[in-house]
Amino acid sequence: MEEDRAEDTAETNRRVATTGDIEVSTYLEIAEEKGGAQPAAAAEAEVAGERETIVVVDFGSQYSLLITRRIRECQVYAEMVEHDAPWERVASLNPKGFILSGGPASAYEPGAPLAPSYVYESGLPVLGICYGMQVLARQLGGQVTPGVKREYGQTLLHLSDVESPLFAGIETPSQVWMSHADRIEAMPPGFRALAYTENSPIAVMGSDNRVFGLQFHPEVVHTPQGKTLLKNFAFRVCGCRGNWTMGNFISESVERIRQQVGDGKVISALSGGVDSAVVATLIHRAVGDQLTCIYVNNGLLRREEVERTFNVFRLNLGMQINFVDGTDRFLKRLKGVTDPERKRIAIGQEFIKIFEEEAKKLGKVDFLAQGTLYPDVIESASSGSSVSAKIKTHHNVGGLPAKMVLKLIEPVRYLFKDEVRQLGIELGLPEEMVWRQPFPGPGLAIRIIGEVTSEKLEILRSADFIVMNEIKQAQLYRQLWQTFAVLTDVRSVGVMGDHRTYGYLVGIRAVTSQDAMTADWARMPYDVLARISNRIVNEVPEVNRVVYDITSKPPSTIEWE
Ligand code: XMP
Repeated sequence: MEEDRAEDTAETNRRVATTGDIEVSTYLEIAEEKGGAQPAAAAEAEVAGERETIVVVDFGSQYSLLITRRIRECQVYAEMVEHDAPWERVASLNPKGFILSGGPASAYEPGAPLAPSYVYESGLPVLGICYGMQVLARQLGGQVTPGVKREYGQTLLHLSDVESPLFAGIETPSQVWMSHADRIEAMPPGFRALAYTENSPIAVMGSDNRVFGLQFHPEVVHTPQGKTLLKNFAFRVCGCRGNWTMGNFISESVERIRQQVGDGKVISALSGGVDSAVVATLIHRAVGDQLTCIYVNNGLLRREEVERTFNVFRLNLGMQINFVDGTDRFLKRLKGVTDPERKRIAIGQEFIKIFEEEAKKLGKVDFLAQGTLYPDVIESASSGSSVSAKIKTHHNVGGLPAKMVLKLIEPVRYLFKDEVRQLGIELGLPEEMVWRQPFPGPGLAIRIIGEVTSEKLEILRSADFIVMNEIKQAQLYRQLWQTFAVLTDVRSVGVMGDHRTYGYLVGIRAVTSQDAMTADWARMPYDVLARISNRIVNEVPEVNRVVYDITSKPPSTIEWE
């Protein structure tokens, strides 16, 4: 459990960063870099040729996905595979090199997961990271033993006098981030030590056959030159050309979708969110009006949201959209329902019913398009369920395919969220849609504590509109993961002019997050909070008190219900 030992290495009271922290801060750094990034220009995107893949063999490290992400940032496609993936699966990716990830096992123990033999037999370059290094040491005839001294945290890397393309452009001594206990006692034949640290005489090893091992983690933010090292591996060692761009992705996908769909019919649910918007736009580009989008207004959306979404797709992009106003049906289903989970179930079931009714009207439909993203695929694969069976619960399309015998099209299933955003921009979607904060499928229903009524929905819409407005004015919208108002069922006494009031209490929630798994409450400027509060009590007559939620997740959740 090398990486998991990290936490108990704190020798003082000072809080030591856990692997989760490092992962989150690395994603944060990537997101910040991407915030200002523009999609590659068309000419630049046209680095001709087939896709080249760096295959990340996963041994269960929390960082495996991060390695994949880092390689893609260098405009080289990377995909993660299980450590026992069959060669046929890997061969179809056109591999240019392998990275063996870290992992919780110990390479010297019997039964430790090892790399498949094709990794070594293919003659392709290999980079083993941490556990991955120990695996290749063991498999190629070296010796791995439990380390006497654990090495955790930042340390300085010094190069030996053997030159290596891995270190091109890297200044040393260089800070690197370690998290290991086991160490290489003897290198396999043909290997030389390329770098060392205070506690690891063999921090990096390499052979003339382009096989390398790193004891540290180049993918995390605490190894500042790690990205250069990974880039060197991809370009200088594996010979990749860097043709992974959104421009290339669009032409490839359009071609693939055309082949897959033929003259079949596709349906897709629009939610107003970026994933479904990008998927619909991509499929529309490929097969035009063979795609019909179904957009259901569940009556639980925010002010102006329905009109804006409809206009973008129907008027700007010219798509065929079947719009259903289900407001009354959803409100009827929600009557008397106060339990959060029951609300979700009621909304989900009603959505499926409407979607089915609409699909039936279209006659024979062959495909259902879904905005499944790469992290969803990984999550479902690691939870043991069949990857292809995973249907996002988001916007409640779940349950449809089994009954309707539709084949799934998931054109962004290997993309990360920020890649989907880039793709959206490249496809011509408005920035406002591409950068929209996440909005839950059950909508405002889970932001009204207690029973949902049309009166309460209107109160919440008014308050929420003010929050959005002020956050955007203050240029905070993109920095915040989510920002919204919650209508509680608490009423409190206030005074306005000479009158006593007895009005609703509204909660304001603003959080920063990378993935919604954890979140911190946003340290919003007081003047922004003051404006929000003033405007809500002045402009929404039913509300006389506003509070700001200062809890993080965990222990709270982002939504109040
Ligand atoms: P919580 O409240 O669990 O939310 O911290 C994490 C993220 O998920 C969103 N969320 C939902 N999204 N259907 C959705 O599509 C739901 O039922 C649902 N509940 C929460 C929430 O907005 C946040 O981004």
